[in-house]
Order: sequence, then structure tokens, then C-alpha cells
Amino acid sequence: MDKKSKDNHGKETMTNQQGHPVTDNQNVRTVGNRGPTTLENYDFIEKISHFDREKIPERIVHARGTGAYGYFQSYGTVNGEPISNYTRAKVFTNTETQTPVFLRFSTVVHGKHSPETLRDPRGFAIKFYTEDGNWDLVGNNLKIFFIRDPLKFPDMIHAFRPDPVTNVQNLERMFDFISESPEAMHMVTFVFSPWGIPATYRHMQGSGVHTYKWVNHEGKAVLVKYHWEPVQGIKNLTQKEANKIQGENFNHATQDLYEAIENGDYPEWELYVQIMEDGEHPELDFDPLDATKLWYKDDYPWHKVGKLVLNRNPENFHAEVEQSAFGTGVLVDGLDFSDDKMLQGRTYSYSDTQRYRVGANYLQLPVNKPHKNVVTNQTGGMMDFRQDYGDFKNPHVDYEPSTIAGLKEAKNAGVEHEPYVEGRLQRQPISRENNFGQAGETYRRLNDWEKDDLINNLVSALLGCHKDIQDKMLDMFYKCDKDYGARVEKGLKSGMESKEEMMEDAMHDAEEMGHPSDPY
Ligand code: HEM
Repeated sequence: MDKKSKDNHGKETMTNQQGHPVTDNQNVRTVGNRGPTTLENYDFIEKISHFDREKIPERIVHARGTGAYGYFQSYGTVNGEPISNYTRAKVFTNTETQTPVFLRFSTVVHGKHSPETLRDPRGFAIKFYTEDGNWDLVGNNLKIFFIRDPLKFPDMIHAFRPDPVTNVQNLERMFDFISESPEAMHMVTFVFSPWGIPATYRHMQGSGVHTYKWVNHEGKAVLVKYHWEPVQGIKNLTQKEANKIQGENFNHATQDLYEAIENGDYPEWELYVQIMEDGEHPELDFDPLDATKLWYKDDYPWHKVGKLVLNRNPENFHAEVEQSAFGTGVLVDGLDFSDDKMLQGRTYSYSDTQRYRVGANYLQLPVNKPHKNVVTNQTGGMMDFRQDYGDFKNPHVDYEPSTIAGLKEAKNAGVEHEPYVEGRLQRQPISRENNFGQAGETYRRLNDWEKDDLINNLVSALLGCHKDIQDKMLDMFYKCDKDYGARVEKGLKSGMESKEEMMEDAMHDAEEMGHPSDPY
């Protein structure tokens, strides 16, 4: 993977961070060659102290990932109509511009060096450096999610991640949570099928998952969902295939992406949107803002609106990938939030964690800062390295409004979209939950081999769960689809019998074989 390092080896003289030449990088300074060391050993102390601080906190979720640069180009139309009929966002209306992007792929639950073959949704987070500032679309590979209320997110992640006592992931904790969260059944059906282990990052779809809004020049909004389709095609793995890859290489997805780009085999995705009129749509049996639901293609066709190409690898993983920061609040003019309560919960969480994980000035880092000029009164804070204020002509006046100088507000680019909202302040689930209908439909639409793998994966996970958790899960599988429930039930029954036999065999073998002796 690393051709460049050999060429550079030995060419440049090493200095410390103060620019002093390092004449001996092998021996610490000591009294006599056996030690003790002395405290004035500045080079050594600086080297070790910097090393001690080399890592930043890993992401609280999506810690394992990789990224690449490229561009997005809009086709300028939606279903034959000018795209400006729907959105005034220049990233879509300006078809001449190739908007630079940075995309980070990830897995969700486990830590920064965990295997990339694990069953998990995959993150698909894109930063568009548009002429109007940054737009982040922080999505996943699957088109839906486990929950629909942001208050449940920390509990969900606690249940999915390793046990706080043993530090081992325990699927009983996961299914304990799911058995009390029926809205998760649709996502569980995807995640425990081969769709839960994409073969590589290049061979998976992406989706914004949530419903967003597009706003046109008249301030009129439509509801919109975003989907990325890989030109390379979609490939998923069975559990058996994933086990084999994991035994040989647990970085296979990162390596695959890096090598494809180094070899000039640039991965591409086409962007599709689904559009619905703004509103609550009482005629539907689900809520269009519910992130656990698909909008079926037959009812809401996918319209192709642009293309994404990844063509450059980062040069410094820590600086560019680890410190990259995406957020659902990062929108540009012509794009807006919907009322989806989980989308709003996320929007608070991302920049909050990034101020902790990377620091208050995380937006000054090259990977995060917009490609257009930033002219702001928000200065100062730890590690603010701006010295001239760019286009800020009179930084004495770092407040607004002012009659002396300083900055002025920008003009609106079109009519403001001003949705009318009223209602009782309350804590209530949404009205049209319909937790099982689409989950059953998704089960029925899987191929036979996908169904077989799904049932095997669910059965082997549920075999480790208490009987009452198994029973609650079975009840919900039956509610999704009778065949789905019956197959899981049958698998559990025969799995229990063979589990008992296997335990007896294993104990028998261990007794016969005895224990190895220590040869040293
Ligand atoms: C990462 C919170 C739901 C996709 C993160 C991070 C947090 C978070 C705190 C770490 C960010 C960082 O350290 O930079 C939440 C909350 C959610 C939620 C509170 C629900 C209430 C979702 C959903 C999706 C998603 C529904 C998919 C649509 C991602 C992705 C990343 C991420 C792709 C990794 C971004 C990167 O590569 O840096 N999330 N999340 N999350 N989340 Fe979520």
C-alpha cells in the first residue's frame, strides 16, 4: 500500500518540532551509558510527551472508518424538469461546477481498529464544499434506521456495544432492547440478512435515511429523500463469506478503497431523489417523516440527479479522516430540515461531540473548513490559528450591528420557507407507527439465499438469549410475516437440541485430549 515512504527514506534531515536538528535519535542522554537519565533531556521529553497525546478520543459511534476526496456533479434536472423548480441550492442548479467532496465510510458499533466484516450498518457521510459553504449529508448504506426518537439513541448504542463489565459484545443485550422496541424490526430484518455486511465500501448504496426538504426560489418546499447507487454494483456477504475474509484481513474494506483509487479505478455513485409534496400525508399508512420506513419506488420513483466520483486518497489519516467532522445541521440555502424529531436530535449531537473530540476550532482544519471564504465574528478559543482575518477588513469591530464598520448580514437568496407549526407540547409516539408491515414486506422481497442467511443469523444470535426474550422476538417475527416467524421458531427449536449435543461433545473431547504442557 505504501510506495512513497521508501522513496523518501533518508533524504531529509530530521528536526524536532522547534526546528533543532536531531543528531542522535537512538540514545537518550544519561549519566554513563547505563543511566540514570537526566531531566534536562529536552528532545526526549518533547518526543515522549507528544507521543503520549497522539490520539484524540475516537468517535462515540462510527469509530472505524476511512475516507476519500472527489467531486459531485449535478445533472440539473428531475424527471425531465429543471431541478430549480424544486430547489435553489446551487450545488444542484449549477451543472457547470464539479463540487469538491470528502466522503467518510464507517461501521457503527465497535472501536477504531475493529474488523470491517462485522454485521453493522455502514456510515456514508459526505461533505460537499459548495460555493455557498459546506453541505454535509450524513447517511448510512441502508435506507432506514432502528429507531425514530432521538431520546432512545444512547440506550440503543449501549445495548449494541460491548457489555460494560466484560467488554464483550453480547447479542442478548441487543435483543433485549429490540424486543422492547418494535420499531426496530424493519432494520433488524435488513441488518441480519446479507445487507448487514456489504462486501466493500465501493459496493454498497448510501442513503440520507431521513426526510429532508428542498426549497425553491418562491420559498415552496417539497419533502425529499436521497439515495446513492454504486456504479460498481451492489455486493453483500453471507456470514460464512465474511468469516473467511475476516480470518485473512480485517481491514479489507479500507484497503480495497485505497487501492482502487491509487490504481485509478475511481468508484462512482449516482444520486437519486424521491420527492413527496410537503405535508403530513394522512392517506399513507406510515408517517413520511418516520426513519424506520421506506418510500417504495413504485409509489415514489427514484429520480437521477447527479454523479459522485472519488478520485483522491487522503495523505494523512489522522489529519484528514480522523479529524473530519460531519453534521446533519450543515445545510446550504435551498436545502432544509423536515420536522423529523430524530433528525433534529442528531443535529444537536454532532457538533457537540466534535467540540469535545476535535476541539472548539474544529472547523478551521483543512478537511472541515469550507472552500469559500469564512468571514465571521466567531473567533478565539483554543488553537485558533487565524492571524489575518481573511476578507475581514476591519477586525476591530468584531460585533454586529455596528455603524462604524465590521460585517453586515447577507441578503436572502430567495423567499424564506416559513412552515406553519402549532401543537400541544407533549411526549408522545407518532400516530402511524405500523412497526411490522414494511418489515414483513422486506422479508418477502429477499432472495431465497438472503432469507436463509437471515434466518441462520437470527437463530444463532437468539440462541444465546433468555427464553422470554426469544418469545417476545418470535411474537414480533410472526407479526411481520407468518413464514418469517415459523422459520425462526423452527431454527430455534433445532438449534437448542444441537446446542445441547455440541456442549456434551465438547466436554467429552476436552476430557479425552487432556491439557497441553508448558515446554519452556
Ligand atoms: C456519527 C449521533 C443517528 C449516521 C455519529 C456521531 C454521533 C452520532 C455523536 C459521532 C460524530 C463524530 O464524532 O464526529 C447520532 C444520534 C442519532 C444518530 C444522536 C440519532 C438520534 C444516525 C442515523 C444515521 C447516522 C439515523 C444515518 C442516517 C452517522 C454517520 C456517522 C455518525 C455516518 C459517522 C460520521 C463520520 O464519518 O464522521 N452519530 N447518530 N447516525 N452517524 Fe449518527
